[in-house]
Amino acid sequence: MTKAVFNTLADVPTPAYLVDLDVFRRNHQAFMTAFEAVYPNVQIGYSYKTNYARPLISLNKELGGHAEVVSGFEMDMALGIEHSAEEIYFNGPLKTDEELKRIVTLGCQLNADSYEEVERVVRMAEMQECQFGIGLRLAFESDPVLGLSRFGIEHPGVDFDAAINLIRASRHVNLTGIHAHYADRSSAVVEQTAKRIVDVLKALDDRDLRTLKYLSIGGGFCGPMEDAFARQFAKNPPSYEEYASGCAGYFAEVIALYDHCNLPKLLLEPGTAIVADSVEYLCRVHAKKQRGGGRFIAVTDGSNFARGGISKGVEPAWSRVSTDSLHSNAPDSEAYSEQQQISETFTQVVGYTCVEGDILIAQTAEPISVGDLLTFRNSGAYSLVMRPPFIRMDEIVVVRSERDGLRLARDVIDSGFSFDSYEF
Ligand SMILES: Cc1ncc(COP(=O)(O)O)c(C=O)c1O
Repeated sequence: MTKAVFNTLADVPTPAYLVDLDVFRRNHQAFMTAFEAVYPNVQIGYSYKTNYARPLISLNKELGGHAEVVSGFEMDMALGIEHSAEEIYFNGPLKTDEELKRIVTLGCQLNADSYEEVERVVRMAEMQECQFGIGLRLAFESDPVLGLSRFGIEHPGVDFDAAINLIRASRHVNLTGIHAHYADRSSAVVEQTAKRIVDVLKALDDRDLRTLKYLSIGGGFCGPMEDAFARQFAKNPPSYEEYASGCAGYFAEVIALYDHCNLPKLLLEPGTAIVADSVEYLCRVHAKKQRGGGRFIAVTDGSNFARGGISKGVEPAWSRVSTDSLHSNAPDSEAYSEQQQISETFTQVVGYTCVEGDILIAQTAEPISVGDLLTFRNSGAYSLVMRPPFIRMDEIVVVRSERDGLRLARDVIDSGFSFDSYEF
């Protein structure tokens, strides 16, 4: 393990994910507060797939959050930090037999994605002679606001009717949750998801209403972001309060339906909304090459693949933190451009990979030198978790907080990625 504490950002080795625990904490609490203002029984089930860096999932637990997972691998992470089985919500379009068996045996929460999955769960609970609570992920195909989705059981629809009838007929399985998730991030879609879920609830019979433990409107929310970054998106990103107040009327119907007693939990599964601006991606410039037409290319030890893939038309929010010069024989860029009498110069910042499209900054007029540290904000969502083992896996994870300063949390992205299990 390299040095565990750093005095300044300039000391942090690169490439690195810098996790700001204070930002995650602030977002987590603000998200809860916004929804608690409109519904008294709110629970966060943090979306592991969005970023399961250990410092984040541990802090989620410390803040009272539960875990939303979609694989045995993620479930193990949640169990590994001592979440109880009931605090784990298992979603996803496909569960293996092994996963289903563990879910039923341990008593995790489960949202079935298809009629077949409901059948498999009912069979398994009957075989194991245990009681199991099942949730249903729904898709509202005919809804013009929500549109098409390949996930979940269509409502209204024959599969939904069959699933409900199967659950009602079973002595071992109860309906415990109704869930939907649409990834659009607009307040219109979040509100419509809430409306459709509440409409389903209102049509359930008394026995289902009694066994129901949660209604879940999934994730798909925006989080805080700086204005210049937000301006790139067609619509202004809604605030947590705007999402919550937009749904308030529908949640009030649930409160009325239950006459204020034994209210089911409102399960929210934010990932992006609370983690995106909690993580920065750090890399350093190692070489600067001049091309014709005033174009320079700054080669970094970072990669867009480590930020979740090649970005499509979204300019990152980034800064140049320092200009610590590494030893290099490359000509100084400013002096070089003057010498070439090029009036307009720009630099393209690229990753270390062999992919032409691995471009971190398409073009900038800022002077960028060898040795500069670059930080890319809003790098928390689908970055570390979607980082492929492509060419290098050098990213470390560093955490920052007001209380503990800058410390190393992980010195390799995955030391276990040894491929030992291959026969040849
Ligand atoms: C069921 C479910 N819940 C929550 C999330 C988290 O979504 P986001 O990171 O967009 O907030 C996802 C993302 O795909 C999801 O599929």
